[in-house]
Amino acid sequence: MAQRRYGLVGCGSRARMYAGAMTGAHSDDARLVALGDTNPGRAEFHRAAAEAAGAHPVVFHPDDLERVVAEHGLDRVVVTSPDRTHADLVARSLLAGADVVVEKPLTTDADGARRIVEAVERTGRSVVMTFNYRYSPRNTALKRVIASGALGTVTSVHFEWVLDTAHGADYFRRWHRRKEDSGGLLVHKASHHFDLVNWWIDDEPRRVFASGGLRFYGPGNAAARGLGPRPARGTGGDPGDPFQLDLRGDELLQRLYLDNEQHDGYLRDQDVFSGEIDVEDNLSLVVDYAGGPSMSYSLNAHAPWEGYTVAVNGTAGRAELTVVERGAVAPGGGIDPSAVPEQRDARDARPVSERLLVQQHWGTAREVAIEQGAGGHGGGDQRLLRDVFTGPGDDPLGTAADYTDGVRAVAVGIAGNASLAGGRAVTVDELDLWGRG
Ligand SMILES: NC(=O)c1ccc[n+]([C@@H]2O[C@H](COP(=O)([O-])OP(=O)(O)OC[C@H]3O[C@@H](n4cnc5c(N)ncnc54)[C@H](O)[C@@H]3O)[C@@H](O)[C@H]2O)c1
Repeated sequence: MAQRRYGLVGCGSRARMYAGAMTGAHSDDARLVALGDTNPGRAEFHRAAAEAAGAHPVVFHPDDLERVVAEHGLDRVVVTSPDRTHADLVARSLLAGADVVVEKPLTTDADGARRIVEAVERTGRSVVMTFNYRYSPRNTALKRVIASGALGTVTSVHFEWVLDTAHGADYFRRWHRRKEDSGGLLVHKASHHFDLVNWWIDDEPRRVFASGGLRFYGPGNAAARGLGPRPARGTGGDPGDPFQLDLRGDELLQRLYLDNEQHDGYLRDQDVFSGEIDVEDNLSLVVDYAGGPSMSYSLNAHAPWEGYTVAVNGTAGRAELTVVERGAVAPGGGIDPSAVPEQRDARDARPVSERLLVQQHWGTAREVAIEQGAGGHGGGDQRLLRDVFTGPGDDPLGTAADYTDGVRAVAVGIAGNASLAGGRAVTVDELDLWGRG
């Protein structure tokens, strides 16, 4: 395959994986030609890293996206900017003549979905959604079990995800904490989970009822638990406070964020108990799917450990996937939020583990082996990057995703947000995400 010319917009933390692939393992497939960011300091951080790896991208302001696509003959644009900006950058890239690779979530609201659908339909261009959780070997193993027919017809799913007070808290420090910017955790975080369910059971959501609230982070909850006044940000604060993040404690956080605050005032370390937060930290949903199954789902963002449990019930049996990604949180430990926490802490009471059990009616439970590959996330990262930059090739499980999967994943979160606001069940049809009127 000929080498394609790439632009990347959104030069933050997540961009490193894509820029690193284009200047490293996938440099034969991809040439990194242009880097765009509203913050010139972060664009320069990535330009210098690319330069050190032998690439020579130009830096541009996202207002100039159309000009850069045309002048530099970009074949594709990788979008790794904050969620609220995805619809604009995706649609503009397509209309300017480039294909798109976009991080989850595809967008944060119904207008954004319609804008992207319209741009794809008008241009006939492609949008690759990078749903990396699909590539995790344990999630692929569950897909394989369901696709094999071992469970019969799927009738219901129970899915619980817990984020701990390191990773979960981090969604309350910056743009994720405002629904306008991220869609809240139902869109920003749970779109991963809702995509997994859509893919696992090969179905699409029809109706959502959601309930939830902000019950741990935020000023009211701090006061109710007797926490006194707190500094607005963690840097320079109390090193013994497990909720404060000091950006000086991590070279990457310092160079990407602290050193570039003067350009745009983006503070990466705001207090998780401060007033601006308007997203929920506890969420429960009931979702009905078009083919008949239903799902009970819950998300908690302040658990003492991190991981998930999924149970899939079918007419022939049941599968249960139980995962502990981190057994306990070390107080005061700064984290890289783009990394799924996997390290084992010395004080773990609960071992890092994964277990997939399948039990058919009248049979005993059997454990299904989860094959680990080499590299990050059991080899999942490499497979995702290969699919993105080289192409999926033979893909019997349909792991590679496009914008239609992106729309179906955010459908649950967008309907869930409407349900939270209105106190009633909301159908996906009401949202008119596909712009069919
Ligand atoms: N798949 C995953 O597991 C995963 C993990 C982390 C992040 N993400 C996604 O990646 C994206 C980026 O997340 P992040 O943690 O790197 O965020 P970040 O805040 O670290 O980086 C975003 C960058 O975009 C820039 N930016 C802001 N507005 C912009 C605009 N209008 N145009 C271009 N650039 C703009 C910011 O200055 C910043 O440099 C998000 O959509 C997030 O949901 C996905």
